[in-house]
Amino acid sequence: MQNYSAASVNLDGVRSDVIKKALAADVPTELMHAQQLAGRLKTIGGTVPGSLALPRGQRMLQPKEDTTDVVAVMKGVIAAEEVAIAQYTKIIKLCEGTDYVTRDMVIGILGGEEEHRREFNGFLREYQKA
Ligand SMILES: [Fe+2]
Repeated sequence: MQNYSAASVNLDGVRSDVIKKALAADVPTELMHAQQLAGRLKTIGGTVPGSLALPRGQRMLQPKEDTTDVVAVMKGVIAAEEVAIAQYTKIIKLCEGTDYVTRDMVIGILGGEEEHRREFNGFLREYQKA
């Protein structure tokens, strides 16, 4: 979410506008997912971790020196969505038979991430034609 927000501001160039708007629009969606997950974690007896407890390893979406490299951002977004999809799928499987409320919530979030991946795959295909 932080990298989406950064890219939505950092990108330059005539063809970056749609990508910047799509990323900016995704920031509140991703924040809402985090809030949903945090609320559910608390409900089932956990504690929501603070920022220092979270490892940060996202390399593909770090800001590039070339701020017109829109393709790199699109590829980074698709990679990030793939990671999210894999993680949510894992959670859904873990919840099977034990926690249907979390499972249903995460299935909803997963559908959103799949849609987002599809959107960026479409952007990338169009860009690579030009
Ligand atoms: Fe997403």
